Amino acid sequence: MENSRFNELRIKVNEYLDKYMEVIYPESVYESMRYSVLADGKRLRPVIAIETASIFGCSIEQVMPLACAIEMLHAQSLIHDDLPSMDNDDYRRGKLSNHKVFGESTAILAGDALLSYAPKLIIDKTPSSIPPEIILRVLKEFFIAAGTDGIISGQIVDIDSENKQISPETLDFIYEYKTARLFKLAIRAGAILGGANEDILEKLTKFAQYYGHAFQICDDILDITSTIEELGKTPGKDIKAKKSTYISMFGLEEAKKQVIFLCNQAYDILKESSINSEILSGILTDIVKRVNK
Ligand code: IPE
Ligand code: IPE
Ligand code: MG
Ligand code: MG
Ligand code: MG
Repeated sequence: MENSRFNELRIKVNEYLDKYMEVIYPESVYESMRYSVLADGKRLRPVIAIETASIFGCSIEQVMPLACAIEMLHAQSLIHDDLPSMDNDDYRRGKLSNHKVFGESTAILAGDALLSYAPKLIIDKTPSSIPPEIILRVLKEFFIAAGTDGIISGQIVDIDSENKQISPETLDFIYEYKTARLFKLAIRAGAILGGANEDILEKLTKFAQYYGHAFQICDDILDITSTIEELGKTPGKDIKAKKSTYISMFGLEEAKKQVIFLCNQAYDILKESSINSEILSGILTDIVKRVNK
């Protein structure tokens, strides 16, 4: 995203990710973790978490362990998503995917390792100015997104829906769980860290839901309309794998319209809630631009 604060935060996130992941014995698993986490990702989820927390008065230092933990969870989901038994992708973030470099056993274990490394980081590194009961609530949000209330259920229904006609409700379930739940984690945990009240938390959850669904439809569109250089991952994979996507169900034009519709809904929530954030409104205009390029 072309926004100077977004860029500053992205660079800070990269610095902290590097700092938080030392290589010790057994080196191979730490190197595999670092390979995927430090690869060139957009850092959307950590920046969203930092931005949301700062709206509610948190400093960067207070939110950084949470932000980096969310990026580690995201990287885990990508490492496992690329495995031959899942989407079987050879490229990710402009490089060979994790299992192509380190082998499948290490890639599986590095993903598993990130899943526990991340919440431990929140516990170890969040400054003591954040009360323990808030950290407990943040951890619960993390576990919701990581497990069967989140990515796992989305991924399993995604894989089970290959080569199949599914209902729009099932498609909605896939997008909600495999993608939107992680954005909900970034927004909700950020807001909880800053002590947001239930009312605004509900509104922001809805924002993340609209954005998350729009984001996944955008990813599906780009899979058809972009090149490997633009994506850093192989395009055309969804059709080849006979994935059920918004496009396979409703067509490309409808998909583009849906992205715009969902982004408008999300934007209205920011307006209603009087949230003036260039980053939160910018991520909406960014995906609308990307699908219309
Ligand atoms: C890819 O997410 C996975 C999806 C949910 C579609 P991103 O497009 O945010 O990937 P990175 O972090 O920039 O690599
Ligand atoms: C993204 O689904 C959801 C994940 C949990 C990784 P995709 O399978 O469409 O993501 P990409 O296109 O491989 O990044
Ligand atoms: Mg997938
Ligand atoms: Mg994939
Ligand atoms: Mg995709």
